[in-house]
Amino acid sequence: MKMFSNILDVRKDFPAIENYNYLNTASVGLLPKQTISAIKRYLDEERLYGNIYWKEWENKLEQARSLIAKLIGAKEEIAIVSNTSEGLNIVANGIKWKNKENIVLNDLEFPSNIFPWQNQAKKHNLEIRIAKNVHGEIPLEEYEKHIDDSTRVVAVSWVEFQNGFKHDLKALAELAHAHGAYLVVDGTQSVGMLDIDVKKMNVDFLACACAKWLIAPIGTGFLYIRRDLVDEIDATYVGWRSVKDPENFSYRWFQLNDTARRFEAGSPSFLGIQGLMESLKYIHRIGPRSIEKRDLELAEYLVEQFLEIKQLKIVTPLNEDKPQSAIVSFTCRNVEEVYNKLLENRFIVSLRLNAIRVSPHFYNVKQEIENLVNLVKNEIR
Ligand SMILES: Cc1ncc(COP(=O)(O)O)c(C=O)c1O
Repeated sequence: MKMFSNILDVRKDFPAIENYNYLNTASVGLLPKQTISAIKRYLDEERLYGNIYWKEWENKLEQARSLIAKLIGAKEEIAIVSNTSEGLNIVANGIKWKNKENIVLNDLEFPSNIFPWQNQAKKHNLEIRIAKNVHGEIPLEEYEKHIDDSTRVVAVSWVEFQNGFKHDLKALAELAHAHGAYLVVDGTQSVGMLDIDVKKMNVDFLACACAKWLIAPIGTGFLYIRRDLVDEIDATYVGWRSVKDPENFSYRWFQLNDTARRFEAGSPSFLGIQGLMESLKYIHRIGPRSIEKRDLELAEYLVEQFLEIKQLKIVTPLNEDKPQSAIVSFTCRNVEEVYNKLLENRFIVSLRLNAIRVSPHFYNVKQEIENLVNLVKNEIR
């Protein structure tokens, strides 16, 4: 944790912290100064000149791909996309569905991991099955009840957006694979907060937006596709960049790239990728394990103090009084009033499904959490 021995230096990289008590990374992460400078530099010194720096931009794209692969324990298995929805739709649209197959979701998911599957269900006459939460957790037995040999996909967020519940991906992969189903993961509320190894967890597909815990520009994301599954997914969109030799502009019949690059049809947002690269470098510099440790410490500290407020109900499922992620949600009788009071006092958190969601990241400090707790104590009824 040597990066955090001088947390004030880290905090200097996030100027927004001076003006707000920002505890809302589950909504949008803060951009470090380095990312903002890289984007400005790209515009002022490169993009200004048309295509002259195109080769450098292509190199940046490849560097970003490698840094993502390294972060999640993957190899040449990353497609750069704009957001989670795009990544999940590439998978959902590309599966060669058979009649009467089913898709297993759960009732805590964010809509971007529900609607693409419902869309396929409508088109291909598939069944959607919903594993139900028990006090904010989805027990593995719930999945056991729903998954069978007709299940094609189990789609789940590693960490749930509304209450921070963390699924046991390895166990879910085992269960899905035993029935010949894919495990499709939405990593948006976990990658960048928790250290992940997609190989150890046996994940088949993982879609992720980088604007939250990966502190990157909005509109940057990625899709991990296990190497041997690339050919099982039809490419819905195909363009000049999906092929083996994208620089060949003569008329020919297309030959798809062997890797996940085939799912990148046209020119990407190089502007976003400049920023993404810097943010990924930042995350690697601190180290995913150090970030996980710090984020969990902050969330545990928050829970410890919330447990002492008797009018407050913690919605986040706890394991021996500890949260499993850095998303902590709570409610109370006057939840909207408390939320508005927090906003008035420049505490940035989210109101989701009648609960206030607090989501600290490594750039936060215990003092901010104590300040939030004191305000909540004063306002709660
Ligand atoms: C779990 C989860 N997935 C996805 C998203 C966002 O979807 P997209 O990246 O498509 O905007 C969010 C929140 O905005 C989320 O909480």
